[in-house]
Amino acid sequence: MPLGATGFGAAKPCPRCGPAPRPIAPEGMTFEAFNTYGDHPNDYKLKGALKIATAFAAGDWPVWVTFLGSNGSGKTHLAYAMAQARRNRGERVAAVRSSRLLAAIFAAMGDDTPGSPGEVIESYSKIDVVLLDELGREGHTEASLTRISEILNERYVERLPTIITTNWSLEAIGKVWPDVASRMADSSLGAIVDLEGVLDHRKRG
Ligand SMILES: Nc1ncnc2c1ncn2[C@@H]1O[C@H](COP(=O)(O)OP(=O)(O)OP(=O)(O)O)[C@@H](O)[C@H]1O
Ligand SMILES: [Mg+2]
Repeated sequence: MPLGATGFGAAKPCPRCGPAPRPIAPEGMTFEAFNTYGDHPNDYKLKGALKIATAFAAGDWPVWVTFLGSNGSGKTHLAYAMAQARRNRGERVAAVRSSRLLAAIFAAMGDDTPGSPGEVIESYSKIDVVLLDELGREGHTEASLTRISEILNERYVERLPTIITTNWSLEAIGKVWPDVASRMADSSLGAIVDLEGVLDHRKRG
């Protein structure tokens, strides 16, 4: 195409590979953009978190990663960078906020929605990689606890890669989801990455 022609420099899908898959991670939530700082006593946690996150991204242990911690500590950032890396390796990845997942499950109980709640649960139980963001932020009812447990238990039994982020402590999770907390703490499979006490990135100067 001659320089200056209409469309010069525009991105075009490769005719052999087809269009690139839509990115999963929001813009900027990459490993490269993740700063481990070093000017606060808890910043060592960022280094440890990055190490575990990149191991997961490479397909190594851990198979399950649970990020705990307060607002702005980088949980969602790392979780999406991990999910994107696994997508780039060709795996099927579903990334969803817990509230959205439950809304999809409950919507599927209505007549106007295709599929059934069982199908939604099944698809999240079986897909290669799941990122469940903001677990517990939706509040919880008996029904929602059961649905989330069902998905996570199935993924645990099958050893399927799973990333969870939550503002809750492990003790708090254990009170309402004892099964889930117990599986999260299984170090043969997973790692709990505690970012509690890391400064809120949104407030860092
Ligand atoms: N260590 C970091 N380096 C660079 N950017 C970061 C870092 N930590 C967080 N951010 C950025 O700060 C914003 C908030 O981070 P993030 O969404 O990961 O927080 P969170 O721990 O998930 O908080 P919440 O509990 O409120 O959901 C995002 O734009 C993210 O990209
Ligand atoms: Mg978050």
